[in-house]
This record gives sequence, C-alpha cells and structure tokens, in this order.
Amino acid sequence: MKLALLSAATSTAMALMAYAAAAQTPDNAVISNAILSAPTGADRIAEGKAVYDTNCASCHGAKLEGQPDWRRRLDTGRMPAPPHDETGHTWHHPDADLFKIIKSGLDAVVPNYESDMPAFGSILSDPQIADVLAYIKSTWPDRQRDFQAEVTANDAANP
Ligand code: HEC
Repeated sequence: MKLALLSAATSTAMALMAYAAAAQTPDNAVISNAILSAPTGADRIAEGKAVYDTNCASCHGAKLEGQPDWRRRLDTGRMPAPPHDETGHTWHHPDADLFKIIKSGLDAVVPNYESDMPAFGSILSDPQIADVLAYIKSTWPDRQRDFQAEVTANDAANP
C-alpha cells in the first residue's frame, strides 16, 4: 500500500515536472504525452474554461452544445461545429489526435480534409491547449471519460 502510494506520488511529481518543462518549450515543439496526462487540478480546468470561452464557445457553444443541427452538412459542403459534451464525438478520439486537431487543424489528422475548424497553433500555447482539453473532459460523465482514457491508452501503446 505504502509502495503504491509512493509510486503514485512519484509519477504525479514527474508529470508535473514534464508539464513545467513543456510549458517552456516553443510552440512547435512536439508535445509529449506527459503534458496531456499531467494532473488536471481545478486551476488548470479553470484556465481551460477561460481559453474555451474566448476561443471556442463562438462555434462549439457556450455550454459545449455545438452548432444547431450539427450533423447536417452546410451549404458550403463543410460540417458545422460538433458539441464537445457527451452528445458529440470528441470523446471518441485519443488525446494526441485532439491535441493535433486544435493545434494544427483537422487536416493534420485527416490530410486534405476541408473544414471550418481553425488551427490554434499561433494563438494558443501547448499548455493552453492541454488546459482546454482538461476543461472539456471535466464536463464528461464517467462513461465518456473512461472510454476516452482507454482510447488514449491504446493509441499511446500503438502509435
Ligand atoms: C470558427 C468556428 C470554430 C471555432 C472558433 C472552433 N472550432 Fe473546433 N470545430 C469547428 C468545426 C466546424 C468543426 C468540425 C469540422 C468537421 O467535422 O468538418 C470543429 C471540430 C473540432 C474538433 C474535432 C471534434 C471531433 O469530434 O471530430 C475539436 C477537438 C475542436 N473542434 C476543438 C476546438 C477547440 C478546443 C476550439 C477552441 C480553442 C475550437 N474547436 C474552436 C469549428 C470551430
């Protein structure tokens, strides 16, 4: 028991160190999984909500509800912004893909895909992107959060 607690404390400390180190790397640095799996305390979630309200809510909705009729293609041929709550499909994707989509746009994950989703790499720092993801995840019920954690673990094991 003592050992397990000790190793949990050690990995938390290591994740925090990685988070601090990543916070100082340039924007185009490759993001490590450590920054995404760093402990998501209330302060980071609050930061993430502020980032979300300023940068994402206009399309994805103040309550993460997405654009009206979000499953129906627009006249432009592109898709509306989906919800980020449990009714959407954000929780189907691993952390690494979500991070890439937010930083570099959807075509970073699906080449040549045309989308109205902006790339935020020149607007948000890597830790801000991690925070906004922490905020989005904090709104999910356990089922969605557990599912997405498993998808992320599988993805990390088979990159
Ligand atoms: C100008 C409108 C707009 C803004 C602002 C915007 N998005 Fe999007 N986003 C979209 C659209 C539209 C899509 C869906 C594109 C598609 O499927 O073709 C999307 C898709 C996504 C996806 C993929 C979801 C999935 O399940 O496939 C993520 C993740 C995402 N956005 C996160 C964010 C975050 C985080 C922010 C703020 C930092 C943000 N978006 C700001 C329009 C926007």
